[in-house]
Amino acid sequence: ADTGVITLDDGFVNTGSTRSAITFLDGEKGILRYRGYPIEELAKSCDFVEVAYLLIFGDLPNAEEIETFRSGIREHTMIHEDMRSFYNGFPRDAHPMAILSSVVGALSTFYQDSMDLNDPRQVEISLYRLIAKLPTIAAYSYKKSMGQPFMYPKNELDYCENFLYMMFATPTSDYLVDPDFAEALNLLFIVHADHEQNCSTSTVRMVGSSNANLFASISAGIGALWGPLHGGANEACVNMLERIAADGGDVKKYVDMAKDKSNDFRIMGFGHRVYKNSDPRATIIRASCDKLLAKLNLDDPLFEVAQKLEEVALKDEYFIERKLYPNVDFYSGVIYRALGIPVQMFTVLFAIGRLPGWLAHWREMHANPASRINRPRQIYTGATQRDVVPVDQR
Ligand code: CMC
Repeated sequence: ADTGVITLDDGFVNTGSTRSAITFLDGEKGILRYRGYPIEELAKSCDFVEVAYLLIFGDLPNAEEIETFRSGIREHTMIHEDMRSFYNGFPRDAHPMAILSSVVGALSTFYQDSMDLNDPRQVEISLYRLIAKLPTIAAYSYKKSMGQPFMYPKNELDYCENFLYMMFATPTSDYLVDPDFAEALNLLFIVHADHEQNCSTSTVRMVGSSNANLFASISAGIGALWGPLHGGANEACVNMLERIAADGGDVKKYVDMAKDKSNDFRIMGFGHRVYKNSDPRATIIRASCDKLLAKLNLDDPLFEVAQKLEEVALKDEYFIERKLYPNVDFYSGVIYRALGIPVQMFTVLFAIGRLPGWLAHWREMHANPASRINRPRQIYTGATQRDVVPVDQR
């Protein structure tokens, strides 16, 4: 209700922006459920496309529903040939998150019918197009940075396999997707798939609330995710671990630096606005990391640095008092490294994983007859009324 009284809540710590039936999160108990299903069970029993269906449509699909969904996605995996030429215009060292958000925004120039939000069929096609094309757009940004030819999607592969194929295959060699790699990626996508009203999802809802089209809303969400306090933390975390390793692995020095308020250094991949005991996603990812490195017989020095850093930080009074624990971004980078994914692509993978959540929230908002344009208020702190003085007298 519009009471005319403005309550200030910096960072929206205690402000609910909506009612939502998608994701349940209990930060004290470390519980995360999508549509009522615990994340641990989904990670164990489902594939990412099933979880995407669950988030978007509300229930786990039956055999027929999932097949229709998968084939709808397969139909749209290629991007328009004219879009390929966009990549020529980007500098070779362009950040792939910038490319991702630009190309996703540009989808609305190719699919202009998507502007009509009153046509449910167009909205549904836009949704399929996004899920299908995001991995292709992402893999092409990597190919661009490597100077390698783009690989068309191969629709007989599943979603995660196809992404790895487009990333790592070349026309001159046979590339067989390692099933362990696809499994690890599947799990990472699932644990990233939704997280209620986080910064990027709130952005998608905010932009969508003006009735902007779906591509514009998702493009804005990608921009929000890019920041190092949000999805960009996975890239920042591995850069930090590399810095510590290069500095002799002295984790204590970095823990002390993070506590020192005279600089703005933070332990990346640590802390969370809502989780105050543990982040259940971090627990799943850490176990998967252990399993994958053992299976591949890989001894990643950064994994050791991360474990040491976690151990020292968790015993430190500063971190205990503030309830700072490893979050989803702390160990995910170590897995991405094991899969051969370059560090600049880490947040792009987060975006592919988070897309179903964004789509689910965008749909939920538009299905709610009570939803209105999101328009927060403020408490004005600027000058009172002033008179304009002519320029030669200022
Ligand atoms: N290292 C050192 N100190 C920290 C950290 C950290 N990683 N995180 C929070 N603090 C301190 C902070 O300085 C503050 O101390 P004080 O009360 O003395 O001023 C206190 O803990 C509370 O921090 P805050 O910034 O007010 O908490 P927030 O809820 O606004 O921010 C956060 C949450 C996740 C942005 C923050 O913990 C952070 O910057 N973490 C590092 C970046 C990161 O890992 N982000 C990924 C989050 S999970 C995935 C996602 O959302 O995408």
